[in-house]
Amino acid sequence: FAKMDKKQSLAGKKVIVSAAGTREPIDPVRYISNRSSGKMGYAIAEEAAQRGADVVLVSGITNLPAPENVKVIKVESARDMQSNIEQYFPDSDITIMAAAVSDYRVKEVAEQKIKKSDEVMTIELVKNPDILKGLGEKKTDKQFLVGFAAETQNVLEYAQGKLQRKNLDMIVANDVSQAQAGFNVDTNIAKIITRDGQIKQAPLMKKTELAQLIFDIIEEKMNIKA
Ligand code: CTP
Ligand code: CA
Repeated sequence: FAKMDKKQSLAGKKVIVSAAGTREPIDPVRYISNRSSGKMGYAIAEEAAQRGADVVLVSGITNLPAPENVKVIKVESARDMQSNIEQYFPDSDITIMAAAVSDYRVKEVAEQKIKKSDEVMTIELVKNPDILKGLGEKKTDKQFLVGFAAETQNVLEYAQGKLQRKNLDMIVANDVSQAQAGFNVDTNIAKIITRDGQIKQAPLMKKTELAQLIFDIIEEKMNIKA
C-alpha cells in the first residue's frame, strides 16, 4: 500500500514530463540516437502521479512500461517531441524535461535506403530546436520549469549556464562520466540547482528516490503545502 499512502500534494496540478532519447532518421532503415534509457523521466512521471498530479509523459524511445495513471505519448524525433509538449504547455503547472533530445537532425532524410559507396561518407546535420529554451521564453510566473543537464566536465558551471539561458526554475545536473550516474543505470548522483542560487548535492541514490527529492524541492519552491 506504499503507493496509496502518499500525500496527494500535487492533486489538481498538471505536470508534463519528457523522457528517454529522441531518434532522428537518416533513411528508412537507419537513425541517430543516444544512450538515454528513460528511467529517470519515467520515475519522475510515476512519482508525480503518485502525488495526485494529472501527468502527461512525452516519451522518446524506450521499452519501459507506462507508469500507472500517466498519459503516455510516444514520439520519435525532437520536433515530434516539441509539438506534443507545446500542445500541453499553456495549461501546465510543472514541466520537467528529462528527455535526451538530439541536438542535431539529418538535413535531408533519404527516401530510399542509402547504398554504400565511398570509403568515407558524410551526413550533413542541422540543429534541432531547443525545446526547453522555447518553453522558458513562453512560461508565466506561475509555471515551474525544470531542466536536466548531462555533463562530463565542469558540471556546476555548465548547468548554471543552462539554468539562466533557458530561464529555468530548477536544473538537475549529473556527471554522466561517473558509472553510477546518467545513462542506463538505476542510480544517479545529482546536483539540484534552483533559480534562487541554492545548490543541493544529492548523494548516490536510486532514480526513484531522486524523483521524490526533486518533487520535495519543487513543492517547497512553489509553496505547496500538503
Ligand atoms: N533540451 C531540449 N531541446 C534540445 C536539447 C536539450 O529541450 N534540443 C533540454 C534537455 O531535455 C535538458 C536540457 O535541455 O533538460 C539540457 O540538455 P543538455 O543536452 O544537457 O544541454 P544542451 O542545451 O543541449 O547543451 P549541450 O548538449 O551542448 O551541453
Ligand atoms: Ca544536448
